[in-house]
Amino acid sequence: MALPQSQEKADYVAVMFGRIARRYDLLNTVMTAGRHHSWRRLATDLAVARLEGMGLDVATGTGDFALELARRPQVSGVVALDFSPQMLRVAEAKLRRKRLERRVEFILGDALALPFPDNTFAFVTSGFSLRNVADVGPAFSEMTRVAKPGGKVVTLEFTPVKGRDPFSRFFPWYFRNVTPRLGALLAADREAYSYLPSSVEGFSPAEEVASIMEKAGLKEVAFRKVALGTLAIHVGRK
Ligand SMILES: C[S@@+](CC[C@H](N)C(=O)[O-])C[C@H]1O[C@@H](n2cnc3c(N)ncnc32)[C@H](O)[C@@H]1O
Repeated sequence: MALPQSQEKADYVAVMFGRIARRYDLLNTVMTAGRHHSWRRLATDLAVARLEGMGLDVATGTGDFALELARRPQVSGVVALDFSPQMLRVAEAKLRRKRLERRVEFILGDALALPFPDNTFAFVTSGFSLRNVADVGPAFSEMTRVAKPGGKVVTLEFTPVKGRDPFSRFFPWYFRNVTPRLGALLAADREAYSYLPSSVEGFSPAEEVASIMEKAGLKEVAFRKVALGTLAIHVGRK
């Protein structure tokens, strides 16, 4: 499918996540056989290593990354932001169920204009969101701005799978053909789950994401691929 651009993209994404909010977690669990939590855990391990302080989870959606941060003793508290009120409602309900209300504050806001002063957070994370923001460069600039000097920016995102080996041929086919069917079946939203593989195919390769992070002012930028090379975790330090 053709992907919308800039403001049109932001509007499209906000409406789409609003529509699928109540089914988002179920689809994540079915599509990854429950593995998505382990990737956020690994990204969180990398974020909190040898660091402590406040965390910010950007484009938190239903809050899984924020909750993972909140469970760590190195994290004194978490602020988590998204521009979809429907996704945040699911996140709030989950927070109450897990009895972590005192550790996380969810707020409505835009990843491209974070409502925080410079140098505020020790950890700034974002999961499965970079593809969805209207512009990745400004998103990293904002995450870098609000990170404290020495703090980390850590992202977890799909990365395009390209190659001639059997898996690299199979995965894009599977993603393009099976994901929309699962979306239709379990979320009654084929379009949202057609957008997903299209947005991954159209997204920057991991090396390019690393150089966008460096341009945003992050140092020691490194990435590692997980989930058979379908996801990348990027870490940079301010
Ligand atoms: C695929 S979900 C990821 C949710 C969550 N981070 C996770 O790990 O599952 C993408 C989220 O990005 C949010 N989003 C996209 N662009 C945004 C922006 N400019 N500001 C705030 N949230 C944004 C959407 O509302 C949606 O909740």
